[in-house]
Amino acid sequence: MSHFHPEIRQRAEELVALYPRARSAMLPLLHLAQEQDGYLSEAGIDEVAALTGTTSADVRGTAAFYDMFHLEPVGRYVVAVCTNIACMLQGAYRLLEHAEERLGVAPGGTTGDGLFTLEDAECLALCGNAPCLTVNWRFFGDVDLGRFDTLVEDLRAGRLDDEVPPHGTLSRVQRATGLQAGGEGAAGAASEGVPAALPTHLDLDTRRTTAAVASMDAGHLEGGT
Ligand code: FES
Repeated sequence: MSHFHPEIRQRAEELVALYPRARSAMLPLLHLAQEQDGYLSEAGIDEVAALTGTTSADVRGTAAFYDMFHLEPVGRYVVAVCTNIACMLQGAYRLLEHAEERLGVAPGGTTGDGLFTLEDAECLALCGNAPCLTVNWRFFGDVDLGRFDTLVEDLRAGRLDDEVPPHGTLSRVQRATGLQAGGEGAAGAASEGVPAALPTHLDLDTRRTTAAVASMDAGHLEGGT
C-alpha cells in the first residue's frame, strides 16, 4: 500500500515517467514526499526508493546532502534568517537574536506548538534587501525587528497561507508541455538527450509568489495585510 496520498502518488508516477531512468526523478520525488509529510519520513523515503528502483540508504544519503530536505520533523514554518556578509552588515545577528527571543528557540529548534523552526542560514540570494529571511523558501527582505514580529503574528494567524507554501513546494509552476510522461517518443528521444517536444508554453501560476515579492516591496509586513 502506498504511503503517498493518491494525488501525490499520481504526481510521483508522472515525474518518474519523465525521465529515462527512474532514479533521475529522486530529487523532485523527495520534494513531493516532504510536501506531504512536512519532512522526509521513513515511509516517504522507502516509497521514493521503491519508485526509483534504489534503496532507502541511497535515498537517505542523497537527501542528507541537501539543506532543503528535512530528515527530522520541523515546524509548519521554517524561518531561515540569513547571517551571511551582506545581511550581517545590516544587523542580521541582532535580528537572529530577536527571533530567538521572540520564538523562544535557538537555531535548529522548534517551538512547542510545532509552528516555527528557526534556522541560521547562509546567503539566501536576496542580498539587496538585507537583512532577509525565508519562510518555507518564500523571501522576506528588509526585515527589521518590528517587521519580524508582524510576520510571526501574520503566520500564526494564517494571514499568509496563500503566500507561504507547505514544505516541499518549491514552485507553483506546473509543467503543462515538454517531455511527455510515458510517451514512447519522449522516452526514446530523451534517452538520447533530445527532448521529444519543445515546451510551447508553461502553465505559470506565479501569482502567489509575485504577490509575496510585491508585498515585500510595498512594506507588506508593516501594513499587516
Ligand atoms: S548575505 Fe544575506 S541574502 Fe546574501
